[in-house]
Parts: sequence; C-alpha cells; structure tokens
Amino acid sequence: MSDHRVIPEPPKTVLHMKVNGVRIEEAIRPHKTLLEVLREDLLLTGTKHGCELGECGTCAVLVDGEPVLSCLVLGVACQGKSVETVEGMANGPELHPLQEAFAELGAAQCGYCTPGFLLTAKELLDRDPDPSRETMIAALAGNLCRCTGYLKIYEAIELAAARMRGVK
Ligand code: FES
Ligand code: FES
Repeated sequence: MSDHRVIPEPPKTVLHMKVNGVRIEEAIRPHKTLLEVLREDLLLTGTKHGCELGECGTCAVLVDGEPVLSCLVLGVACQGKSVETVEGMANGPELHPLQEAFAELGAAQCGYCTPGFLLTAKELLDRDPDPSRETMIAALAGNLCRCTGYLKIYEAIELAAARMRGVK
C-alpha cells in the first residue's frame, strides 16, 4: 500500500499591490515569491527567473522604488506596496532612455539579464543622474551578465544618463 499523502495547498491570500502604476487585487498562494506572483499570477514574464538564490540579479524589480530580488521576497510581503517591472519602463510606444541606449549600443545580447539591469540602473539614475563608473559598477554588482562583458552595459547607462540630463 502506498503511503503517499496529498498535502493540501494552503488557502489563497488576497494581495493588493500597485504594479506599474495599476492597482491590482489577486488571490495568490502565500508561499509564492514575488517573482512567481509576477510571472505566474500576473503573467508579467519580463522579470526573469534565474538562480532563485539571490545570486544573479535577473529577477530584480523595484519595490517602493528600491531594487529588490523578487526571488527572495514573498508576494505577501509586498502587500500594499508599489512594484515596478520592466513592462512599466516604456511610456506607451516610447522606450525609456535606458532601453533605447541598451538597444543602440548592443548592451542586450541574449537579453536574459537585461530587465534586471534596466531596473537596477533606473533606480541608480533616479537618485544619481550622473554616476561615476565606480558608482555604477557598485550599484550593478549584484547583476550578472554572461554575454556582454559588462562594458557595453556601462556605456549604455552612461549614454542614457547623459540624454536624461539633456547633454547628448
Ligand atoms: S533569480 Fe533572483 S537573484 Fe537569481
Ligand atoms: S545579455 Fe545575455 S546574460 Fe546578459
């Protein structure tokens, strides 16, 4: 006789958040990470699923304006908070200057790391419109890229920053 037991799923919790400026109300399983809630419940698959260990940065989003690794945070911990994902960066058909610069300079190759870099860089430029290369490297230290060698990413952020300051 098999002793496999079916463990019942915990009841769902209603999560209220603002996602990319839109208020949402979603019944979610309380054990799900923010990454899983975004991708599986809200179908926002721009946020990428990498190591799930807090080591690669590909799942980075902004929560109340701060970069957060969404694989390390429970969805329920974001109750009442405001979340920004890569889907919220463009303004209608108009790309964010960071997105434009990444595309122009080849800073996105396979693109898997790109959403995490874009959001982490956005937060950096929101608080420091003209960061030094050292500041940029420190801010992006938690984001890994296997394709670009990083230089193009730094150059794209510098180009976007200059355009946002109106000097290019
Ligand atoms: S998937 Fe979150 S840090 Fe790698
Ligand atoms: S562009 Fe491929 S991992 Fe960064």
